[in-house]
Amino acid sequence: MTRTVYVNGDYLPEEEAKISVFDRGFLFADGIYEVTSVLGGKLIDFEGHAKRLARSLAELEMASPAPRGELLKIHRELIARNRIEDGLVYLQVTRGVADRDFAYPAPETPPTIVLFTQAKPGLADSPAAASGISVISIRDQRWGRRDIKTVQLLYPSMGKMMAKAAGADDAWMVEEGTVTEGTSNNAYIVKGSTIITRNLGTEILHGITRAAVLRLAKEAQMTVDERPFTIAEAMAADEAFITSASSFVVPVVSLDGQRIGRGIPGPIATRLRKIYLDESRKAAI
Ligand code: PDD
Repeated sequence: MTRTVYVNGDYLPEEEAKISVFDRGFLFADGIYEVTSVLGGKLIDFEGHAKRLARSLAELEMASPAPRGELLKIHRELIARNRIEDGLVYLQVTRGVADRDFAYPAPETPPTIVLFTQAKPGLADSPAAASGISVISIRDQRWGRRDIKTVQLLYPSMGKMMAKAAGADDAWMVEEGTVTEGTSNNAYIVKGSTIITRNLGTEILHGITRAAVLRLAKEAQMTVDERPFTIAEAMAADEAFITSASSFVVPVVSLDGQRIGRGIPGPIATRLRKIYLDESRKAAI
C-alpha cells in the first residue's frame, strides 16, 4: 500500500508529494515539527503536542498553518487512510517558500505544512523497553534554543551515529558538567525513591511525555526533583530512563559501558512506563 501524505491542503501518494527547492525548511532549517504517537488507532496527548506546536510557532514568529481542530482532522484522516493501528504522525511546518535571503520573508508568506505517518506495529511492546538500553555521554554541541522543536536535527543525528559507533543504543548530551537530555528524548535518573530530571529551560526540549510522566509520578506519590545532574551521579544512580513520544518510558541500564544500578530495568521506570501507557491509552483521542 502506498503511503498517503499531506502537503499544503492535499492528500497525495508520497511519490507525488513535492516541496519547493526554495522552501526555507530546506535552505535554513527554518521549520518546526511535532511527533505524536498512535496506539490502537488513536492519538496520544494530541493536546500537548498542539500546544507545544503553537509555542514553537510563536517563538519563531511563524504563521500558524491551520487551527487546532483542522490539524486534528488531518492527523485523523492520515491515520485512517494509512490504516495506522500503532505508529507515529509527523507534522512539519516551515516558514514557506521565498528567494534565498537570511531575513524572514513577508509575514503573509504561506507556511509549508506536511504531515506523514510511520506504521510501527507493536510500538508499545518494544524489545528495548523490556531489556533497557545503553547510552554513552557526548558533548552537547547544539544551538541554544532547544526548547523550540526545530527541524535542525543534525547534531542529534551525529550523536546517534556516535552511539552506534560505540556499540550503544543512544547518547546523553553533557554541557558544563551536567546532562541536558538524550539525542531525541528527555533523561532521568532515580536515586533512592527520588526521580531526578533536568529542570525546564532553553537547554532542553520541554517533552510532552516528560510533562505527563512527572504529573503521573506525583499523582502516584513519587518524589520528583527537577534539577541538572552529572554523569557521575548517573553512574551512581539506582536506575535511569528516558521518555519521548516515540519510546514512551524506556529504562537505561548502562552508561559509558558501566552498569547503572543492577544493570537491568528498574522498578520505578518499569512502573512509570505501565502507568504512562495505561493512562495515555485511556485518554487517547
Ligand atoms: N523527539 N528531547 C529531544 C531533543 C527530543 O527530540 C524529543 C522528542 C524529546 C521528547 O519530547 P516528547 O516527549 O514531546 O516526544 C526530548 C521526537 C520524538 C523525535 O524523535 O523526533
